Amino acid sequence: MRIYYGGHSSFLIEKDGKRVLVDPFMLSGEMRAARPDVICVSHGHSDHTGEAEEISKASNAPVMAVFELANYFSEKGCRTIDGYIGGTVRFDFGSIKYVNALHGGSSPEGGYAGNPCGFVINMGGTVVYHTGDTGLFGDMALIASQTPVDVLLCPIGDKYTMGIEDAARAVDLVRPKVVIPMHYNTFPAIRVDPGLFVKRVDAIGAGIRTVVLRPGESFDY
Ligand code: NI
Ligand code: MN
Repeated sequence: MRIYYGGHSSFLIEKDGKRVLVDPFMLSGEMRAARPDVICVSHGHSDHTGEAEEISKASNAPVMAVFELANYFSEKGCRTIDGYIGGTVRFDFGSIKYVNALHGGSSPEGGYAGNPCGFVINMGGTVVYHTGDTGLFGDMALIASQTPVDVLLCPIGDKYTMGIEDAARAVDLVRPKVVIPMHYNTFPAIRVDPGLFVKRVDAIGAGIRTVVLRPGESFDY
């Protein structure tokens, strides 16, 4: 599996020629052009809906989101996949499950966009848990106990989501093989030092690897 980081909370996850794009925002031309099979959008805030509409229309890839947010994209003329927290959508490459996230849910135009969510993405047995924007909650351990997580993508930027201390607690609950921090240093209000997060994860002592990616970089798992 190759995981490309587009910056902020955007990732392109690729395995065996299949591609899942999550929360596309401020993507480089290269990632923007990489025709995904599905575009997951965790909630309606504009730093997550980002370029989803444009990429969906250009690639004909469906936008997968909770019911109300899927309707928003549907009204824009995109193909969509709807569902809700607890639901699993099956694909030829595996499955994507909607899971809880503690956050808000307005659309870019201010309308109601449903509950925010995270996604547990299973591609050929390799599991990536993208938490979306969220605060810390204990059921992250429950989510991981049902589907052991290979790679955790979690916010560390504080203010609107978990900060470093809470994110390290989330890593301890989920116990992934690898964690990649997201949702930090995009703008001044969420400026943090990812090196501090690396130290906190190392202190857990479980051999969990923290991979800090710059926008445009990728990681092979
Ligand atoms: Ni948000
Ligand atoms: Mn956000």
